[in-house]
Amino acid sequence: MIDVENLTKQYAGRTAVNNISFKVEPGEIVGFLGPNGAGKSTTMRILSGYMPATSGRASVAGFDVFHQSIQVRQSVGYMPEMAPLYTEMKVKEYLRFRAELKGLSGHAMRRRVGEVMELTGISDMRRRLIGNLSKGYRQRVALADALVHKPGLLILDEPTNGLDPVQIRQVRDLLRSIKSKHTVLLSTHILQEVEQTCDRVIMLHQGRLRANDTPENLTRQLRSTTLLHLEIDGPGNLAEKLAALPGVRKTTEEPVIAQPWRRFTLRVEPGHDLRDAVLELAMKQKWRIREMHRQLPNLEDVFVELSMNAGVPTDIPTHVL
Ligand SMILES: Nc1ncnc2c1ncn2[C@@H]1O[C@H](COP(=O)(O)OP(=O)(O)OP(=O)(O)O)[C@@H](O)[C@H]1O
Ligand SMILES: [Mg+2]
Repeated sequence: MIDVENLTKQYAGRTAVNNISFKVEPGEIVGFLGPNGAGKSTTMRILSGYMPATSGRASVAGFDVFHQSIQVRQSVGYMPEMAPLYTEMKVKEYLRFRAELKGLSGHAMRRRVGEVMELTGISDMRRRLIGNLSKGYRQRVALADALVHKPGLLILDEPTNGLDPVQIRQVRDLLRSIKSKHTVLLSTHILQEVEQTCDRVIMLHQGRLRANDTPENLTRQLRSTTLLHLEIDGPGNLAEKLAALPGVRKTTEEPVIAQPWRRFTLRVEPGHDLRDAVLELAMKQKWRIREMHRQLPNLEDVFVELSMNAGVPTDIPTHVL
């Protein structure tokens, strides 16, 4: 659905996007991440046919974004970072105007505008002036606009920016519900949202591609320790025996909450999964285990690690570029 090869964008000598390549398959929801100024919005603008690149190639739904920008705009629903809404228009009036611009007309156009207002939860606002809406509702109008011509691909630049937690959840549910019909490229700074919504993550840093993988793989293979939480009861020196397992960096005993159970947290070297070893040890020592939970680093850890170590590629797992 998206095919980007060696894409570069320079603004007056400053390189905003630096030779990036990636693909997005139909039906995927891909999170586009990176710190401020990484080049996310720039890439999204190019992919939506609104800005030319300096060099490289990009196609969307089989159309070249440089040479076939009209077809590209028909295939893409783009929600820009700062949606240029007409504040003096009413919601329904604006969406009908936008739908007509995108080639819809008559009964089908009116029905579709009704549908997207329903989908984005703004039907009650249809007679309100856009200028009088709260930020969250304006965001929804922009989302309805992006959806109105049923584009195969949605390119959403921080769609949940400025929304309250309830609205963020609603947008997330909306994205999930339309997943079967649309491919989505979504930029956001809310990493939890990406973990819960996206099939894959593309991470930019200073215009370069830093990672391209599933959220699970990114966090699993991150070179930082994982934690193993245990609740155990049994004879002998538990802490000492656990600490002797290969791969354990540190063993901490937590305060006892429910006698006779004791809680331990093992800090484990990257690449080690100690759960089997702990079970074997417990059987041998005749310990009882009532809880064992492996805590992987989350996407936020990956994000910080990639952003901090941008100049030190050795710190980054091999599958990460
Ligand atoms: N119109 C422009 N003219 C000159 N430089 C620009 C322009 N737009 C963006 N830039 C620069 O290009 C770089 C990438 O900007 P971009 O807006 O793509 O980043 P971003 O990843 O979307 O950041 P944010 O998370 O803050 O939205 C930044 O250094 C920015 O200052
Ligand atoms: Mg941006």
